[in-house]
Amino acid sequence: MTEAGQTPLPLVVLISGSGSNLQAIIDACANGQVNAEIKAVISNKADAFGLKRAQRANIPTHVLDHSLFGNRQSFDRALKKLIDGYQPGLLVLAGFMRILTAEFVNHYLGRMLNIHPSLLPNFQGLNTHQRAIESGVKQHGVSVHFVTPELDGGPVVNRAIIDVDSSDTTESLGKRVLAEEHKIYPEAVSWFANGRLQLNGNQAMLDGEPVPALEKYANET
Ligand code: GAR
Repeated sequence: MTEAGQTPLPLVVLISGSGSNLQAIIDACANGQVNAEIKAVISNKADAFGLKRAQRANIPTHVLDHSLFGNRQSFDRALKKLIDGYQPGLLVLAGFMRILTAEFVNHYLGRMLNIHPSLLPNFQGLNTHQRAIESGVKQHGVSVHFVTPELDGGPVVNRAIIDVDSSDTTESLGKRVLAEEHKIYPEAVSWFANGRLQLNGNQAMLDGEPVPALEKYANET
């Protein structure tokens, strides 16, 4: 539950697709699990279903189509301008499938979270469930991390670990991971909103204690 009397933390959420994580955060803000208010949802894709989810919740939406920009830097600068008009205390990447420039990332350092469907530092990048199955790992999962200029390399703040069954397919594994995403992302946002989570150098701190890192799998390069 939120702490009584505390002003809700203003959020901006960036999406590219279905927005099921956005939905989990919308719901958690509405039911009081997260003391935050989503001020805007921005998508780089006009057909992202998450835009409909935001509109249903009366949240302002914007489409900023990256293909209309000449380069990554000009897109990121326009995105930053749009975001900063809402003065968010936290920027939440929820399935936002764009690589961000260091200039953009550094502007939001310590106040930007991402969710990545693997146990970081394992399986950075795309197709994480397929790669987990192919590599034969026994455990897989999802990580919420602070975003730093290293792609999918920022310090992990929250994670869920699930066992991989020998019968698992990419779809079955992805489905179980996604169900965990919807729990751990609102939880991490609530920690941040309640002042419990900070980035200290390259270390995430929760309640003043370092969040432990995981080892890389031996067969992950
Ligand atoms: C989620 O599985 C999220 O972890 C992943 O995209 C999906 C978005 O789903 N993000 C990444 O792969 C980032 N590298 P959603 O739109 O339903 O929230």
